[in-house]
Amino acid sequence: MLVAELRCAICGRSYQPNEVDYTCLDCGPAGTLDVMLDTDALKQSVTRGDIQRSTDPSMWRYRPLLPLAEGVTVPPLVVGWTPLYDAPRLAESLGLKQVWVKDDGRNPTGSLKDRASALIVARAMAEGIEVVTTASTGNAAAALAGLSASVGLPAVIFVPASAPEAKIAQLLTYGATVLLVQGNYDNAFDLAVEASERYGWYCRNTGMNPYTLEGKKTVAYEIAEQLNWQVPDVVVVSVGDGNIISGVHKGFRDLLALGWIDRVPRLIGVQAAGSAACYQVWKAGQNPATMKPVNAHTVADSIAADLPRDRVKAVRAVQETGGAFVSVSDDAILEGIPVLARLSGVFAEPAAAATYAGVRAALVEGFIQPGDRVALLVTGNGLKDIKSAMRVAGTGRAVAPDIEEVERARQELGLPSFK
Ligand SMILES: Cc1ncc(COP(=O)(O)O)c(C=O)c1O
Ligand SMILES: [Zn+2]
Repeated sequence: MLVAELRCAICGRSYQPNEVDYTCLDCGPAGTLDVMLDTDALKQSVTRGDIQRSTDPSMWRYRPLLPLAEGVTVPPLVVGWTPLYDAPRLAESLGLKQVWVKDDGRNPTGSLKDRASALIVARAMAEGIEVVTTASTGNAAAALAGLSASVGLPAVIFVPASAPEAKIAQLLTYGATVLLVQGNYDNAFDLAVEASERYGWYCRNTGMNPYTLEGKKTVAYEIAEQLNWQVPDVVVVSVGDGNIISGVHKGFRDLLALGWIDRVPRLIGVQAAGSAACYQVWKAGQNPATMKPVNAHTVADSIAADLPRDRVKAVRAVQETGGAFVSVSDDAILEGIPVLARLSGVFAEPAAAATYAGVRAALVEGFIQPGDRVALLVTGNGLKDIKSAMRVAGTGRAVAPDIEEVERARQELGLPSFK
């Protein structure tokens, strides 16, 4: 699909795709651009039946709806088409009719960010880009490093030096050049922008690059297709920069414009209480374009952002769908990790387990009703941050290599014997 236009989220100014690389020339960094599809042309050329007949078990089954010229090679790693699990025990524990868990931690580098990086790397290769760069709390960086490694594209990564070890290990192992920023994510973001301007590197920074969202929107396409185009009532998404929730919104809006679904789910954005700029502005009914930075601190490193880069689109995603923002404590986020794992089998990193805490908060606030059909987006794998999981997972019982010790442990732990 070729892009019809890029449109500023704030002023609506329209650009030709080759007229601008990143954000609106009038509105600056807050004016992130929407990639607009030519839906009239698409209605003539592709049907949802065509997509359903695809045998491609990856995000590229939606290639006709993605901004990639025909014939462009895509990276070989298999990204997307992750399972959407029906989770009846989770539903029951929450007092909900139906809950699904979309396990995006199954992606090749362990997070939903692979969707964005796969598209960025494909576009970079098509355009003969020689170096890509990004700032990230860790997952976007791991995704760019992994997808770049799969095609031999050099990547320069700016991450806070405090990022969880597993994420830094991924970057180093994939062979990216890793700059450990002695500062927070927002500092890393600004450095990546300056470096890309100074050295001509292609910048994947979340929100600033309009195409990250285009990759991420495929998760909404999948949820719709996996439910035979009967979308859930509510989709719950954790929010840092607000690019994922904006992508989910865009995906459902595309499908609505094509007439493939009949409504867009309510989107619930979950923020950590210590990193809740979108939540605060939404709650106060303020204009997101005037959002002020907070001093972000949360155990959920992936959703720590002083000034969410896709703030305007994120707040709009919630407002336009009749959804809500909720804010959840670090304790609630951590407690959610084992609950989600035990009731669905999906091990999530803190930022992703925040959706469980978010559903609970949304139920209390009345944003979700017991009869709603709810999908939780698990955006990152629990193995990304085992230190956090170990804070709440409990401990094993040590036993000497002696079956009588096992017997004592069995009695202590109340394990059954069938003999
Ligand atoms: C696991 C995980 N969940 C949620 C998010 C939030 O996405 P966004 O920053 O686009 O709001 C991120 C972003 O880094 C992430 O890695
Ligand atoms: Zn603008």
